[in-house]
Amino acid sequence: MRGIKSNGPVEIAPSILAADFTRLGEQIAELKAAGCQLLHIDVMDGHFVPNLTIGLPVVRSLRRATDLALDCHLMISEPDRYVEAFAEAGADMISVHQEAAPHLDRTLAAIRAAGARAGVALNPATPVVLLSEVLPQVDYVLVMSVNPGFAGQQFLPGALAKLRQLADWRADRRLHFCLEVDGGIGVETIGEAVRAGADLVVVATSIFHAPNPRQSFEQLRQLAWSAVAEKV
Ligand code: DX5
Ligand code: ZN
Repeated sequence: MRGIKSNGPVEIAPSILAADFTRLGEQIAELKAAGCQLLHIDVMDGHFVPNLTIGLPVVRSLRRATDLALDCHLMISEPDRYVEAFAEAGADMISVHQEAAPHLDRTLAAIRAAGARAGVALNPATPVVLLSEVLPQVDYVLVMSVNPGFAGQQFLPGALAKLRQLADWRADRRLHFCLEVDGGIGVETIGEAVRAGADLVVVATSIFHAPNPRQSFEQLRQLAWSAVAEKV
């Protein structure tokens, strides 16, 4: 995956949103021992989405505590005001929502100028065609398979057609962006998401609420890698 350390054809990005925050360092170390390469950080502002979560101080602490790549998903209004600060705090990847960034071209350029990989996220109701012009400027597209705001929701299958469409455009236009899928991923849904084109898969609940998060991470990665082999 472009600019992202990778162990195999698909990476699993555990979202710390569902972690036990009193044992976060320990949980990250366990995942790293299993070969995890990156962490997904869900940043919510209570305005763009109806929930409040993690902000810059947590990203700074994570940066000091781990060398895993940090993938910051900004579910915030006016992301331009914060992208530089997240890059400085230690984010390696920063995605903003198309719905929150009216000057997407400028926002993506600002993320890259700040030294991070630039991603654009799409809500379930937003058509992929709205990304057509910016695809050459993105390092990754994050397709939401739930309405953003909360962990533990059910996978919305409309994401699959979007992944397929983006994968087709990527091949036709000889682009190299990575395809990330986020929301409702577990043993039941990971295979179809990967077969539809996802190469980076975000998982919160199915890892951190499992009795053994490391084992669940390994199981999901195995399912993802098997699904790649089934792609046509
Ligand atoms: C939702 C977040 C997701 C979420 C995924 O707004 O962007 O990253 O934490 O959680 P699960 O895997 O539980 O659907
Ligand atoms: Zn997310």
